Amino acid sequence: MTDNITKKIYIETYGCQMNFSDSEIVGSILTDHNYVTTNEIESAHIIFINTCSIRDHAEQRVRKRIAELRRLKKKNPELKIGILGCMAERLKEKLLEEEQGVDIIAGPDAYRDLPRLINTIENGQQAINVLLSAEETYGDISPVRFDSNKISAFISIMRGCQNFCSYCVVPFTRGKERSRDPETIIAEAKDLFEQGYRELTLLGQNVNSYNWHEDGQTNFPELLEKVAEINPLLRVRFATSHPKDISDQLIRTIADHANICKSIHLPVQSGSSRILKLMNRKYDREWYLDRISSIKKYIPDCGLSTDIISGFCSETEADHQETLSIMETVGYNYAFMFKYSERPDTLAAKKYKDDVPEQVKSRRLTEIINLQQKLSLQNNKKDVGKTTEVLVEGFSKKSEAHLSGRNSQNKVVVFPRENFKVGDYVKVKIEKCTAATLIGKAVQ
Ligand code: SAH
Ligand code: SF4
Ligand code: F3S
Repeated sequence: MTDNITKKIYIETYGCQMNFSDSEIVGSILTDHNYVTTNEIESAHIIFINTCSIRDHAEQRVRKRIAELRRLKKKNPELKIGILGCMAERLKEKLLEEEQGVDIIAGPDAYRDLPRLINTIENGQQAINVLLSAEETYGDISPVRFDSNKISAFISIMRGCQNFCSYCVVPFTRGKERSRDPETIIAEAKDLFEQGYRELTLLGQNVNSYNWHEDGQTNFPELLEKVAEINPLLRVRFATSHPKDISDQLIRTIADHANICKSIHLPVQSGSSRILKLMNRKYDREWYLDRISSIKKYIPDCGLSTDIISGFCSETEADHQETLSIMETVGYNYAFMFKYSERPDTLAAKKYKDDVPEQVKSRRLTEIINLQQKLSLQNNKKDVGKTTEVLVEGFSKKSEAHLSGRNSQNKVVVFPRENFKVGDYVKVKIEKCTAATLIGKAVQ
């Protein structure tokens, strides 16, 4: 056996925030087993790639990266490569056959087994664990924090998803929905606050179905409230909410706590009820708009953002127009916008034809993006002349003479540095804007 103490691990992450959070869990598990993590890929003994399967493009990116790592391995035959995350789970052994040079495959629920898997490959074998679990939440593990500004952190509060939206691969790669023990969540949040963190984002594929029922019951609004009550200086955010169960209780909890950010990410996917039904989203246009009305009633200044898929199976021009019109009605601050990408084994792949031609998908997506650009600018213009509170996260991208942070509505705000520093709350009067940024000056 080689001496573990000297083994260096490099982890590269693709995909959603949950994957980034998982990489921190992997980092923590391996550091507890006498491995060290490194930021220098050249010095690593094992390179892990934490992968995403959400769209075909995401998988192609990872495959290109594996090809590059194979070249590194030619130069250094001792190097080991491990594939983690959703692509590992989706493709299982097939990935070992298709991608030469891979030594370890571990799915999202198998990370505690990594030390054993690494020992197996020391003997020259390949190792795989893609078992999904109904219970694993890594609740007791306190993650190492990578790439941190030491101000904002993410806490995973639940895992898995069983909504089975017809286009989506996540229920297959992440398994059953399960909630994490609230005590471990609160303890992690308190610890982060004490370390100086000022903004926590509670993460899950569908946070508002969070539900813990052992030693009493805690639902998502109750959990959110408990985290917010740790300290008024701690900002709390969450992602992602599913429109089907965003309750008035949740909306009122956000309204009632100054430090729960007034910003809700509520993926609509499509504005057409017919398409929403085919997508198995379990709500229609009217339901979605009713939830938006409720949000606007209780939280008039709430920032709203969304995810949109263009060109889903059988989408007509009229369906597409309904998506554009729902965007106008809601007036989103920003949106993540995608072309539909058929994923193997999903309900849509089995039942519906991916029949919107590529050019049509692209043209519709461009129209969606252009509209969003217009809406973002309109929204930001309304803030010019107003004063907003910003939590400073770092220097602005363009210059060290300016600081950058976000306000409660999750808008990026840039202003002259003066004597302010990372972690300060600063009141900024907005003087001008672009579609992506508010620009202003600190006021007393
Ligand atoms: N759990 C979240 C989203 C997870 S995936 C939710 O339910 O809203 C993030 C986004 O990727 C989705 O909201 C959707 O807009 C997009 N997406 C998922 N599968 C896709 C596919 N097959 N093609 C294109 N976009 C997809
Ligand atoms: Fe995918 Fe739907 Fe689950 Fe979101 S709620 S992860 S889109 S299946
Ligand atoms: Fe991708 Fe898996 Fe997240 S498919 S979006 S990394 S849950």
